[in-house]
Amino acid sequence: MKRGLLLAVAVCIGIFSFGGLVFSAGSGDIRKTKHNFSATGAGSPIQNIHATTETQVCVFCHTPHRALTNGPLWNHSMSTVKSYTLYHTSTLLSPLPAGNMPDGDSLLCLSCHDGDQPIGAVQNVGGLATTISMTGTNLSGGKLIGPTSFGSILDGHHPISIEISDCLRSNKTTECPTLPIAWKLQAVIDPDYLKATANRYTPPIGYTCATADHPGTGVQCSSCHDAHSPNWMFLRVPDSPTDPWGNRIYSDTLCLKCHVACP
Ligand code: HEC
Ligand code: HEC
Ligand code: HEC
Ligand code: HEC
Repeated sequence: MKRGLLLAVAVCIGIFSFGGLVFSAGSGDIRKTKHNFSATGAGSPIQNIHATTETQVCVFCHTPHRALTNGPLWNHSMSTVKSYTLYHTSTLLSPLPAGNMPDGDSLLCLSCHDGDQPIGAVQNVGGLATTISMTGTNLSGGKLIGPTSFGSILDGHHPISIEISDCLRSNKTTECPTLPIAWKLQAVIDPDYLKATANRYTPPIGYTCATADHPGTGVQCSSCHDAHSPNWMFLRVPDSPTDPWGNRIYSDTLCLKCHVACP
């Protein structure tokens, strides 16, 4: 179903096919989102930042040729930031990634959202590396500014590039009685929310595990977000019920995919 939809989108707008790639991620119609940067999609319904003349949709992130190996047929120029300030607290058991450098899908998002590279900077349009001309209020020199531009200081953002192993899970349970507001990890997590990372979980001092299991997957930006989804804020969770005051509770649904209250 998802696969068909995504294929249909690619075919309809005459872009290209991803020969050999597994169509497991990516749901819904990206054309109805803020990630539709095509000149013709502009304003319909919500685009602020968009190309001045380029009418392709996928090209800002993917290309069938001359792609970077950082992500699936990845076309967008990667950030030159070599180290980020990442979330860290005394109760966080996960280690920081080597050199404070995130990995995996998170670097794909940061290639635009840390504000280092122009939104239009790509490896290949018609055989040439170029910077597609863009317009929009939250741009400066073609680079993202404003509330969706995070820079390199991510210590106020949910940890990313961390592995969720059984060892971490058991240590979070051990932590339960020691914390004022205690949350542990769900026993089973939907695999769609678990994304590849090379940052292996090693228990901090005072915590041990019988076996240090390494599934190689955990939290990335793409755990919570799907860059193609028409859901609010590109979140992976679909519509949620509202609370008694009428507020959306998408994020509660999302957080409970991985976290659960102690005991
Ligand atoms: C704003 C950036 C962006 C745009 C535009 C975009 N994608 Fe993606 N796409 C991503 C990211 C990031 C990933 C990797 C993370 C993920 O799989 O969720 C991805 C992954 C994919 C994958 C691989 C899924 C997998 O399981 O490996 C396919 C296929 C794909 N996109 C198709 C498309 C098509 C077709 C379009 C145009 C209609 C498109 N994308 C437009 C960002 C984008
Ligand atoms: C090609 C550049 C590019 C890539 C890659 C990209 N984004 Fe974006 N994203 C943008 C731009 C531009 C906007 C619109 C910002 C604005 O209007 O101020 C945006 C908007 C958003 C928003 C706000 C949506 C809203 O409704 O306000 C979220 C959330 C977001 N992106 C998450 C992600 C995540 C997560 C990834 C990786 C999976 C990603 N983006 C990859 C360029 C990108
Ligand atoms: C633990 C889940 C989670 C992770 C991981 C996550 N986000 Fe988000 N993100 C959210 C939620 C929930 C919202 C909507 C609530 C809000 O507005 O802050 C959001 C909002 C955003 C926004 C809109 C601006 C804002 O601050 O609200 C952007 C842009 C964004 N995320 C990008 C990213 C990028 C880039 C990464 C990786 C570096 C990332 N997100 C990692 C859950 C997550
Ligand atoms: C894909 C799984 C996943 C999702 C979804 C997720 N988290 Fe997390 N979260 C984790 C993991 C793993 C840790 C790291 C735990 C550790 O290392 O101690 C973490 C850490 C945290 C921490 C830091 C705890 C500390 O000790 O400093 C907070 C707070 C948090 N998450 C809140 C949230 C909220 C709020 C949401 C929903 C918006 C959310 N999380 C969604 C997996 C997730």
